[in-house]
Amino acid sequence: MASPLIVAVVVLVVAYLVSLRNRHKYPPGPKGLPVLGVAKEHPKTEFWKTYAEWGRKYGNIGFISFHVLGRRMVVINSAAVAEDLLGKRSLIYSDRPFPPMAGQLMKREKSMFYISYNERFKTYRKFMHSSFNPNASQLHWPILQKQARIMVANISKTPQNLVEHLRRNAAATTMKIAYGYTIDKDRDHFVALAEEGMRVGSLAGAPGKWLVDSIPALKYLPDWFPGAGFKRQAKAWSDQLYTQSLEPHDWVKAQMAAGTAEPSFTSRLLESRDPHVSEAEHDDLVLWTGGAIYAAGADTTVSSVKTFYFLMMLHPDVQKRAQAEVDSIVAKEGRLPTIQDRPSMPYLDAVLQEVLRWAPPSPIGVFHCTSQTMNTTATSSPQRRPSSRTSGR
Ligand code: HEM
Repeated sequence: MASPLIVAVVVLVVAYLVSLRNRHKYPPGPKGLPVLGVAKEHPKTEFWKTYAEWGRKYGNIGFISFHVLGRRMVVINSAAVAEDLLGKRSLIYSDRPFPPMAGQLMKREKSMFYISYNERFKTYRKFMHSSFNPNASQLHWPILQKQARIMVANISKTPQNLVEHLRRNAAATTMKIAYGYTIDKDRDHFVALAEEGMRVGSLAGAPGKWLVDSIPALKYLPDWFPGAGFKRQAKAWSDQLYTQSLEPHDWVKAQMAAGTAEPSFTSRLLESRDPHVSEAEHDDLVLWTGGAIYAAGADTTVSSVKTFYFLMMLHPDVQKRAQAEVDSIVAKEGRLPTIQDRPSMPYLDAVLQEVLRWAPPSPIGVFHCTSQTMNTTATSSPQRRPSSRTSGR
């Protein structure tokens, strides 16, 4: 029988030869080492800066590719390529990777951020579109406006607590939109749950933190096995994240039953069930989409507004010019500006666009993966998931 060393060498050589054979199929990029790929030179933080540099170095053609420990990644470096692949060819590129720790062990297959490109995903998109398309978004304007005014008043009272006020504003806005829920205390129960959920989500998804993400076979260890603490942790976090979505969802249902619910994303959808979908299934779909709104909208908004304040401190001349635009409305109309005034504030509008461009809150977006092979001659073998993906909540 071959010794383990010989087997290991053969496996490495085969892996190397396969990687050589496949290389021409991918966009250009750093080759790195055999087997390891760019694992050693891949930065631990602010990797988008390195990706941009690699993009320039490898031909400036809008995307690059490399592998880390055999895992192939393609980074899109141009808006035109992103629009082409993720927009026009979304049928192929809308799937999401499903990592062992944050996805599989935590049973997050129904999460908006991990769901595969399937019928359920399409329902999620339909639900989101019904509330966040350009027209429907106007329904949320009164909420945004009211919360913005509360925030401005709070900042002028205690400017030293700026970030706290920004966080409260984002939480109040997203909870109101998602559930019609009003935050009235500093330490709100639902907000605390959601914040804890964000913390758990980012810990579970932290790149390189969990060995099981590099060696997926570890997920088959029994829970009691020494060193399998990550499995027990995943189970506890899975329950916790589910509770975070369930509690406010059930709260809306109780309000609806009592006739006191404020219209919200959740209440509107609960009232408009497709008769072909069972009540339980519809309830579950609404629960998972509603639960994504805080996660998607809170930190991103806080990050952008923080960037805005930072940039205004760096560029007081820009602040002055934008302020003059706001003041002109106040002086002319004797009122605070509203969202409807945006077209008459082109400079401020450009400043806000620049804030999002200069420091995007999510600089590398959310990972996508293909649902078909990249081989142009064989286009339909599924890339992503095992077929046992139905056990999640
Ligand atoms: C500056 C603010 C924001 C930024 C930069 C941002 C950025 C992003 C990005 C990069 C994605 C991933 C898209 C992809 O899969 O390629 C995303 C998805 C999403 N965002 Fe935002 N977002 C922001 C604010 C919000 C807000 C305020 C909400 C809701 C109130 C929201 C709801 C969502 C949802 C539901 C998804 C998932 C969509 C899907 O998978 O189809 N986002 N966002």
